[in-house]
Amino acid sequence: MAGSEFGTIFKVTTWGESHGKAIGAVVDGCPAGLPLCEEDIQAYLNRRKPGQSRYTTARAEGDRVEILSGVFEGRTTGTPISMMIWNTDQRSRDYGNIMEVYRPGHADYTFDMKYGFRDYRGGGRSSGRETAGRVAAGAIAAKFLASLGIRVQAYTSAIGDVSIDRSRFSWEEMGKNRLYMPDRTAAEQAERLLERRMAERDSVGGVVECVIWGMPAGVGEPVFEKLDANLAKAVMSIGAVKGVEIGDGFRAALSRGSENNDEFHTDGNGTVKRTNHGGGILGGLSDGSEIFLRAAFKPTPSIAKPQHTVTRDGRETMIEIVGRHDPVIVPRAVVVVETMAALTAADLLLQSMTSRLDRIQAFFGVSAQPED
Ligand SMILES: Cc1cc2nc3c(=O)[nH]c(=O)nc-3n(C[C@H](O)[C@H](O)[C@H](O)COP(=O)(O)O)c2cc1C
Repeated sequence: MAGSEFGTIFKVTTWGESHGKAIGAVVDGCPAGLPLCEEDIQAYLNRRKPGQSRYTTARAEGDRVEILSGVFEGRTTGTPISMMIWNTDQRSRDYGNIMEVYRPGHADYTFDMKYGFRDYRGGGRSSGRETAGRVAAGAIAAKFLASLGIRVQAYTSAIGDVSIDRSRFSWEEMGKNRLYMPDRTAAEQAERLLERRMAERDSVGGVVECVIWGMPAGVGEPVFEKLDANLAKAVMSIGAVKGVEIGDGFRAALSRGSENNDEFHTDGNGTVKRTNHGGGILGGLSDGSEIFLRAAFKPTPSIAKPQHTVTRDGRETMIEIVGRHDPVIVPRAVVVVETMAALTAADLLLQSMTSRLDRIQAFFGVSAQPED
């Protein structure tokens, strides 16, 4: 299947199906010398794995990562880093009821139309499980970025119609509740909403926000490889994401130029802005301020509530999905958004290294040559 590769210099290929033997990723283009061990990656995978709370599926996926190559004596060697996670709890029988039937809102129908055949056990490559490979790869990108003083962090800003109140925003609280909401009151309200939807055998959507700090100005490639365009593609490639906003996003369409422009000032050290409606990106290039994006997730498509659908041979029928599914995708997707943003930032940062002659000369330790 084409389309499993992402990035130009810092490149990732994810592989594996939700109910195959294993799932994983190969990262090529990570610079040599980065300290890296399995625990660095495991910490990220633990935030994605199921069974963390009542609101994430009870599938005991284990999700222990093994690094197979590309690391020697605790540091990356500059060669492909191959990572594997064994699938240990694939109860294919849970999915027997969807073998001949298309789940509304999932990718069963479109996969069948494209390939004429599909791995019905949990959706194969269209399963949320595919994101384990991305998270493993993105954990490496995040570590590489951290070595340059660049940090990426995502969190839940809304579950259904329950949004965080920014006056109560607390990073500490985000780490405490399993919904990853930086507002305890909102998290409690969201839990009540989830209880109601679960009782109704239904599901809920939500919003993830992501911030990148410390990105130097000038990262991104005009015109087709803009930083915002690549972030949007990276995040939109996550299953169930239906919208991406950079900075004020759709709200910018409602404001005036005088409100939306981030005026420039100088603070003695350089150019600064006091507002950030643009989300840290101008002309597709980072402007040196915080990069801010938002991703809208639809409600989990697999629900137990009876729904109309059709069978593979075209008969109308009803479906009640009995497998184990999250009533909300967002809490487990927070780290997926974060790592996709990290992969994009790492790749475009490396691409930007070739944009200035003076920096290439400095890299090779040569001084500017006379023109004739
Ligand atoms: C981390 C994660 C977990 C997911 N878990 C489920 C799930 O348990 N059940 C489900 O029906 N969909 C789940 N999804 C969503 C489906 O993968 C997605 O809706 C499906 O592939 C159809 O793609 P689309 O929604 O982008 O059109 C999950 C997605 C992510 C990112």
